[in-house]
Amino acid sequence: EMEKVKHWPKRVFINNIDCFASKYVAKVHFSQLDRDELLPKLMDCDVVIYNITQHADQVEEAFWAVSALHSEMGNFSGPKMFILVSTVMTWACTKPVDPDDLELPFTDEIFWRRKAHPNFKQHIDLEKRVVKMGKTNRTLFSTYVVASGLQYGMEEQVFHYFFKTSWMGQEHKIPVFGDGNNIVPTIHINDLASVIQNVIELQPQPYYLVAVDFAKNTMEDIVKAVAAVLGHGKIHKKPSEEAFLTKDLSVMEIDSLLVNLWIEGVYLKELLSINWLCESGLVDNIELVVEEYRQTRGLLPIRVCLLGPPAVGKSTVSKQICEYYKLHRIALKETISETITQLVTENEDSAAEAQELLNSLKDSIDQNRGLLDEHLLVKVVKDKLMSNPCKNQGFVLDGFPKTYEQAKKLFSGETLSQSSYYTSKIMPEFVLCLDASDAFLKERVMKLPERLVQKHNYEQQHFLQRLTRYRADNVEDETIAHYFEELDITPLYLEITSNDEPDCLLLLQKIFNTLGKPRNYGHSTWEVEEEGMRKAEEKMRKEAQLRAEEEQREEEEARHRAACWGEWVGGLEMVRQQEEELLGAQSASLKNYLMEHVMPALTQGLIECCTVQPQDPVDFLAEYLFKNNPFDY
Ligand SMILES: *[C@@H]1O[C@H](CO)[C@@H](O)[C@H](O)[C@H]1NC(C)=O
Ligand SMILES: *[C@@H]1O[C@H](CO)[C@@H](O)[C@H](O)[C@H]1NC(C)=O
Ligand SMILES: *[C@@H]1O[C@H](CO)[C@@H](O)[C@H](O)[C@H]1NC(C)=O
Repeated sequence: EMEKVKHWPKRVFINNIDCFASKYVAKVHFSQLDRDELLPKLMDCDVVIYNITQHADQVEEAFWAVSALHSEMGNFSGPKMFILVSTVMTWACTKPVDPDDLELPFTDEIFWRRKAHPNFKQHIDLEKRVVKMGKTNRTLFSTYVVASGLQYGMEEQVFHYFFKTSWMGQEHKIPVFGDGNNIVPTIHINDLASVIQNVIELQPQPYYLVAVDFAKNTMEDIVKAVAAVLGHGKIHKKPSEEAFLTKDLSVMEIDSLLVNLWIEGVYLKELLSINWLCESGLVDNIELVVEEYRQTRGLLPIRVCLLGPPAVGKSTVSKQICEYYKLHRIALKETISETITQLVTENEDSAAEAQELLNSLKDSIDQNRGLLDEHLLVKVVKDKLMSNPCKNQGFVLDGFPKTYEQAKKLFSGETLSQSSYYTSKIMPEFVLCLDASDAFLKERVMKLPERLVQKHNYEQQHFLQRLTRYRADNVEDETIAHYFEELDITPLYLEITSNDEPDCLLLLQKIFNTLGKPRNYGHSTWEVEEEGMRKAEEKMRKEAQLRAEEEQREEEEARHRAACWGEWVGGLEMVRQQEEELLGAQSASLKNYLMEHVMPALTQGLIECCTVQPQDPVDFLAEYLFKNNPFDY
């Protein structure tokens, strides 16, 4: 991969560096060049950068590249620079600076004392090689090693597992492997880019630099921060071995996450002038980092508000939208009971505020004969919309708000800045209005089974009241649709005229077209595998079902056959009995005859045969009978 830096006077070759991509360069790809072709390209550049921080297979190519350039030094048209972006993992097993003061950090001034983690031996060998190649003639060929902290930013690299698990929200607690007290050196990739840019421009005297930020975060600090901003906010510690059971982490990543290293970049502080983005580290800048992560990965929420009269099919449609886009469905009744359960179960360790809310919810329900006061209603729904899962994936608001006033209370705050905050976090992007004629709705409700009528509170009187109220709410000047129109969110109106399945599918298709593609991770490799397994299982189940059907059919046939057989056998039996009676008379004399003349000799022969046990018993028996024939006079 070859990339040209636009704003620099230099020609730069970069391998596996994406930190410059957005900022400085226009990409030119020379994909999969073999080395004979690659060398002339390297010779064409003033600066060559290799990033070996995450994939061990780049170590080998970097080793070749620095050696090849070194041996071509005689042919250089001008000075060249080689920068190796390595990792602080080559420091992981360094002995303490002062055995009596374990609190002292390492610095790049003592880089010769570093000792690598056992799985990063190749990396340290390459670092040494790079340093050595730069010593022949520094004016002509200078080399640098930048040992970078664990990189974060944009797609989150080694930390991605924690971001993703938190975002998905399926695990209630995010795992921290080990005791979590290990200090993890980090750097935002934009800051790393800035370090590299500084090295190119300033060409500092030291050729070994450590690039880390000034945080001293432990693994626990980091996971806690990610879980709080993206997930349910809870973590739990797991034995470090369990990290190896995690499908999403490579061995190299696990080694990095378990590192315990306090290290400072002295040169970076004293010699370079870095325009820091996250000088104080990941935890301090978590909001910014999370926002960047959402943007880079395209993890933007889809927020939908679905409106319509009772019985028009809002729940069905909203469930289908939620299933397709993996969104959260916010229906009033469920949200209220969920909130109450949550308040009750979490009360022990949560603040007095929760208790207060719970009390006022209960009071309000008592006083309003089971209904919630409007301002509480709005609060409960708003809290729900502001929860991390809704902020992550988005939601479908099912049948709420009902009026202009409710919408105003729900989506705006008391002050202007509050309002713009809410607008950016919970304002629906799409408003869908389902509608159908009153006659159609009434007929639909009449045809519903009693169970559903009760569940949805569609008893005739209730239903008609609700329908009337809905119609009344939607003829005034300030309807809920107006609220959105004023904000330039144009509702999509969908008229329901039939209960037929094809029409419903058509309606959904129209909605999906409006909302666009799902905005999530798509499927990870193991999800694809799981899908494959699910399909295989389904196939097996189908086959088993076919087999069962086949067996059942065969059984039936067998039964049928048995029945026919019975009839047939019954007929035969009669014939047989008649024949037997006939034979009986004949056979009596036949039996007597055999008993008298054949059996004695035959029995004797058989006994003899058993005693002798000859090789060929039949021959033996024949011989015996022949010799002992009682009628052979
Ligand atoms: C180095 O490479 C890894 C992947 O191999 C990438 O995630 C990381 O962002 C790269 N670092 C820089 C500074 O570009
Ligand atoms: C310079 O390049 C030429 C042609 O590619 C090659 O034959 C020669 O060995 C190179 N010289 C050195 C010192 O590497
Ligand atoms: C290093 O290379 C430069 C440029 O080719 C040359 O002028 C200088 O004499 C070389 N220095 C040494 C010590 O070989």
